Amino acid sequence: MTMVPLRKRMPSGRARAAHRRAPSESLSEYGLFFQQSLKSLRSTASLFPSSRFLTAALLEPVDFHSARILVELGSGTGAVTREILRRLAPDGRLYALDINGSFIRHLRRSYRDPRLLPLRANAEDLQALLSRHGVRHVHAIISSLGLTGMHPEQRTRIVGQAWACLVPGGVMTQYQYVHAIAGYPQLSKLRFHRFREGQFLRGLFREVGAQPVFLNLPPALVFTCRK
Ligand SMILES: C[S@@+](CC[C@H](N)C(=O)[O-])C[C@H]1O[C@@H](n2cnc3c(N)ncnc32)[C@H](O)[C@@H]1O
Repeated sequence: MTMVPLRKRMPSGRARAAHRRAPSESLSEYGLFFQQSLKSLRSTASLFPSSRFLTAALLEPVDFHSARILVELGSGTGAVTREILRRLAPDGRLYALDINGSFIRHLRRSYRDPRLLPLRANAEDLQALLSRHGVRHVHAIISSLGLTGMHPEQRTRIVGQAWACLVPGGVMTQYQYVHAIAGYPQLSKLRFHRFREGQFLRGLFREVGAQPVFLNLPPALVFTCRK
């Protein structure tokens, strides 16, 4: 990966203004997220978009000086997307995937940024999707997917593909809400479900670190995974 001077990385004043959050915009983002969560909480995994504290923790491990090709898994209403674009180099590219068509339409309407490609897609199809766009390797993956609530085979397929797409030394960040770490009873199967996300990620990645973020609803644990 080549280094570029900081001066070149900074988006223009116009681009910065485009990503500044207007009060009405953030209200509509919250409204849309809440509405879609009521329809499909299993998929959104939360009632609210990520806080700026969670967003910062997710992006802190990414080296925006050198990263050019980024993937966001589960972009939602764009809480993390906006901040990635603010930090991304002018010649960078962000593939933002979400399974929810309303979220993707919202991103397309809200961001006229040539570096952003919002894609309505299932993260399970990540490799096929990237190869359709001529992308063989990505430098960083930022994932907000609710891995805990997924079928074990589905999350293994998704995270396996994320690992395969990353360049050696590439980073993936992923979070788990604290209530999910504690586990919950599955009445239909008469058992207590507990998924240890850190352990699961350590089974794939060379190095996995964890950092709690309390200022989020709900609080979360952010995992930084290096290939
Ligand atoms: C916890 S929300 C995070 C949204 C946003 N990134 C944020 O931080 O506010 C998870 C997102 O993942 C999306 N999602 C869930 N399963 C998915 C899948 N299999 N493929 C792609 N997106 C998925 C949901 O639609 C939702 O937008």
